[in-house]
Amino acid sequence: MTKTRRMMEENIALVDIVAELVDARIPLSSKNPDIDKLAVNKKRIIILNKADLADSKKTDMWKSYFADEGFKVICTDSKTGNGIKEIYPACRELMKEKIERLKARGRILVPSRVMIAGIPNVGKSTLINKLVGRPLTKTGDKPGVTRSKQWVKIKKDLELLDTPGILWPKFDDEAVGLNLAFTGAINDDILEKNEIAVRLTDKLVKEYPGCLEDRYKVSEEESPDEIFINIGKNRGFLTKGGEIDALRTASVFLDEFRGGKLGKVTLEIPQK
Ligand code: G4P
Repeated sequence: MTKTRRMMEENIALVDIVAELVDARIPLSSKNPDIDKLAVNKKRIIILNKADLADSKKTDMWKSYFADEGFKVICTDSKTGNGIKEIYPACRELMKEKIERLKARGRILVPSRVMIAGIPNVGKSTLINKLVGRPLTKTGDKPGVTRSKQWVKIKKDLELLDTPGILWPKFDDEAVGLNLAFTGAINDDILEKNEIAVRLTDKLVKEYPGCLEDRYKVSEEESPDEIFINIGKNRGFLTKGGEIDALRTASVFLDEFRGGKLGKVTLEIPQK
């Protein structure tokens, strides 16, 4: 068993609630299915983070999808803090029955415990910092680094594990790998930037027609390769030899997409 997985198991054993963050633009691709096995018997929350970048109609579809799967669902923008205040009431609601039961038996009530988990880059550290109200964890991922566990009081009856649980993304499926690459969840080196950019062009023409035309004044009638070249041309990204600077075009295009400049985009919808 890997160290990361062992740490996850140890941490999950200590909590009542596992709140899993996914990227609202790719809720399934950014979800590690292993957590369902690891967190069996735990109360579960799905947090659709980066909701500010996602297509709100599709976010609603994902909310119903995960609710049907038995999760409590919350949408957040961790950068501004939108939606974060829903986490505490959701935890209370999930723990209500257990607390009532303990109360009825006259037991002393201890605070419920929650941990945040998710693949890299979904916004775990940003969310924890907002939830706690001060910087706590270092942004970055060092699975397997052992240090003592610390609990942070969110309210008198809720404590948060101060370090998030890190899960690795699963991308056996090409479409999942591409979605992770488009949103920047996996390193651009895994696939070539130009390749990612051309594939994203293709996807956007199909799913959000008009979006490239609006921003880059390119015709969407052309092939994805042509569209990509025209984006570079229209932006004036040329090399000394007058060719388009493909790497610069890809970098700017991907940065703009990831930063929401092409509009609110969700790249997958629930399949039932
Ligand atoms: P992690 O712990 O899960 O690895 O993710 P982390 O908090 O480091 O966030 C990864 C990136 O996503 C950061 O951007 C962060 O600002 C951004 N982010 C997190 N939550 C949200 C959100 O709800 N909405 C939006 N739009 N962005 C979010 P970065 O570019 O790496 O850093 P920075 O330039 O913001 O400092």
